[in-house]
Amino acid sequence: MNQVLATTELNTVFEECLILKQELIDGLCAKEKYINPKFFYDEVGSQLFEQIMQLPEYYPSRIEMSLLEKYKHEIAEVLGENIVLIEPGAGNCEKVQYILQTLKPKCYMPIDISADFLFDCARKLQNKYPFINIHAVADDMKAKVEIPSAFKNNEKIVFYPGSTIGNYNPNEALAFLKHVKDLVGKGGGLLVGVDLQKEKEVLDAAYNDKHGITALFNLNVLNHANKLLGSDIDIDLFEHVAFYNEEQCRIEMHLESKAEHKYNIDNVSQLCFSEFERIHTEYSYKYTIESFSELAEQAGLKLEKYWIDDDKLFSVQYYKVS
Ligand SMILES: C[S@@+](CC[C@H](N)C(=O)[O-])C[C@H]1O[C@@H](n2cnc3c(N)ncnc32)[C@H](O)[C@@H]1O
Repeated sequence: MNQVLATTELNTVFEECLILKQELIDGLCAKEKYINPKFFYDEVGSQLFEQIMQLPEYYPSRIEMSLLEKYKHEIAEVLGENIVLIEPGAGNCEKVQYILQTLKPKCYMPIDISADFLFDCARKLQNKYPFINIHAVADDMKAKVEIPSAFKNNEKIVFYPGSTIGNYNPNEALAFLKHVKDLVGKGGGLLVGVDLQKEKEVLDAAYNDKHGITALFNLNVLNHANKLLGSDIDIDLFEHVAFYNEEQCRIEMHLESKAEHKYNIDNVSQLCFSEFERIHTEYSYKYTIESFSELAEQAGLKLEKYWIDDDKLFSVQYYKVS
């Protein structure tokens, strides 16, 4: 198995840490505080997300997997043979396994910033599917992707499940779809999982599970921030807040401060939190088939086919470069 580690040199690792640290400080010192959702995924965060996927209230993963299982033959037929399948933000590579056996791509390229977790999953996958070239890439999903030279001429298809596209606002989603179009080029495609608009009660419950796993996942971002910043932000002074904003068609996740508190970072920056102040941690935009296909069309991607469950909760959609 080929493994591309983007950051092997110690100096580069150090520089990357400084960049991440600065990104966190910028967000936490902003007038309206925020943390980029990519910081959710340290090792604990990745494990908590796996638990979220098992929760009864969290329908997206369950329904998406059932759609992939039910329609794997149709999906393999429309995606075609001998393709290079690229999965940005692959996580535990669980979903792709519903289609790998039937699709039999020439090469599968999972990309994730959580390097150890990714390589561990990729190694297991290579043992399970020895007939597929697994080429794991530890990098930011927006970075340029180098296709292995042996597969440069094969058709490329991006697999982007989990409604991760919904974590971008519509302008960012459009930019990402353009990035996908440039990556796959003429003849290429995109198989994407998109969560659909529905009643507020169902959405609110999905992000406020009764076992509090989503709350732990949201709060853990501060543990990760503390590790990167060398800080001691008191996590017990924050509360998980998640709700569906019907006007904007998005779930909003925040961490709300229960009191006033302050921290010094490297004796240079001071982080101040007031009571009830919120740190925004994630959006999850919900679409209709029409609203998402219109967005994709603006990026030069044309809807070929989509699959949806009987209750119209979630969709898997296939686009080709137009
Ligand atoms: C919500 S999980 C989704 C995993 C998988 N795609 C699924 O649907 O089950 C998001 C994954 O994306 C990764 N991720 C988040 N931001 C990223 C970024 N900017 N670049 C690469 N990977 C990223 C995380 O490490 C995590 O494994």
